[in-house]
Amino acid sequence: MTQSNEQRMQKYLHAVEAYLDEDCFQNHTEPQKKLFESMRYSLLAGGKRLRPIMVLDFCKMCGGDAESAMPLAAAIEMIHTYSLIHDDLPSMDNDDFRRGNPTNHRVYGEAIAILAGDALLTAAFEYVAKADLNSDARIRAIQVLAECSGCTGMVGGQVLDIMSEERACTEQEILDIQIRKTGALIRAACLMGVIAGGGSAQQMDAAVTFADNLGLAFQIRDDMLDVIGSAEKLGKSVGTDASKNTFVRLYGLERCEELVQMHTKIAIDALSCFENNDFMIELSKSLTDRES
Ligand code: IPE
Ligand code: IPE
Ligand code: MG
Ligand code: MG
Ligand code: MG
Repeated sequence: MTQSNEQRMQKYLHAVEAYLDEDCFQNHTEPQKKLFESMRYSLLAGGKRLRPIMVLDFCKMCGGDAESAMPLAAAIEMIHTYSLIHDDLPSMDNDDFRRGNPTNHRVYGEAIAILAGDALLTAAFEYVAKADLNSDARIRAIQVLAECSGCTGMVGGQVLDIMSEERACTEQEILDIQIRKTGALIRAACLMGVIAGGGSAQQMDAAVTFADNLGLAFQIRDDMLDVIGSAEKLGKSVGTDASKNTFVRLYGLERCEELVQMHTKIAIDALSCFENNDFMIELSKSLTDRES
């Protein structure tokens, strides 16, 4: 990244980390102290913070004040973190490590892990509802977040992912799984950024094209890293998705590399109707060969 984009990245990261630490579920005591501890355990364990950064930068690219979008940025990270806690449960992917630490259920037990996920999901909507934006923007953001997180979005994708484990899927079926389970939250992030920044209908459409393609490239790279990645760098176990329906299984690594490049290019092309898009272009490119 250029020096100025690297600085922008660090600025966003610091702002997101500070907000999550200082403004989310802090100083809560009995009786449900364990729940708050468990929520913060996963929320503050690091992670790339890609989705909140997208909220902030899409807001900025539309000419808005990124700071006003911070509750929306935190909200998407809460929903993403809840999706990871539940994704790791024994009844789902049964994983022991996440973000470099034992998974939530390994530390707090399954019941608290499920409830911490439930509480993060619910709190996300509280944060959007109380954001310092006009009421129209808040209602539109809530609608986008609900649609992208729920039964036709991330949750729907996770269901398709789990239900298809025992059989081979077609390319279209895998696309459908990935656009939902991973693409949908990325879509919510970009759209909420455009909404907070007061972007146009054309920019909303462009954000959808960007997010759907970047989401695909991101999940294909995730599936590649499950085969070629290092558990240490990723902070999660590798080789655990061998029975899943992924493009790696369908086409092999080489074709997947081409698909990552292709979808990233389509995503980047969609950014042409935004001002100051160089940061998001560079961020998108940097994800193509990410190792974590
Ligand atoms: C992991 O997401 C789950 C997928 C949707 C592939 P990230 O790779 O963004 O995970 P963190 O937030 O950096 O831990
Ligand atoms: C998860 O996909 C997508 C979610 C909605 C959490 P994966 O199951 O491949 O994510 P990882 O590899 O465990 O992070
Ligand atoms: Mg999974
Ligand atoms: Mg998983
Ligand atoms: Mg994976």
